[in-house]
Amino acid sequence: MNGAVRRLEVEPRVTLLDGLRDVLDTTGPKKVCDRGACGACTVLEDGQPIYACSRLLIESAGRSITTVEGLGSPEAMHEVQRAFVENDAQQCGYCTPGFVVATAALLARNPAPGEEEIEAGLGGNFCRCGTYMGIRAVVAGPGQAGGDGGGNVGG
Ligand code: FES
Ligand code: FES
Repeated sequence: MNGAVRRLEVEPRVTLLDGLRDVLDTTGPKKVCDRGACGACTVLEDGQPIYACSRLLIESAGRSITTVEGLGSPEAMHEVQRAFVENDAQQCGYCTPGFVVATAALLARNPAPGEEEIEAGLGGNFCRCGTYMGIRAVVAGPGQAGGDGGGNVGG
């Protein structure tokens, strides 16, 4: 996970999300719906975004898992993390990590996605307060500062 090999002994029923949060103390992926409906738990498995709440930890054995912590650090942010900050893209700490991971995966696949690709890449992540314009600004150009949040509610 995040570049390190981790060996765990867990019950077979433990989800990847619970293993990350409760066993490995990696709390970037958030437990919000816990049923594959919101995207707050999104992590990369071998580079592909997945819902960690909907996968058993044992299913991910031997695979590369990257959480938002693994993308970058406050001192050395991934360009997508930096773009979220510069565009004031979101408000809360619940949905943001999942959006950052999903956006990084989307832009890694296609640096200039069209509308349909954005829908497909980010359609599984939800922000209940509607900060989608800020996220669109991130997708339009990581590192392009100057957005005002794009109409963030309450911003
Ligand atoms: S917590 Fe996993 S999709 Fe909502
Ligand atoms: S910013 Fe997290 S739900 Fe809207």
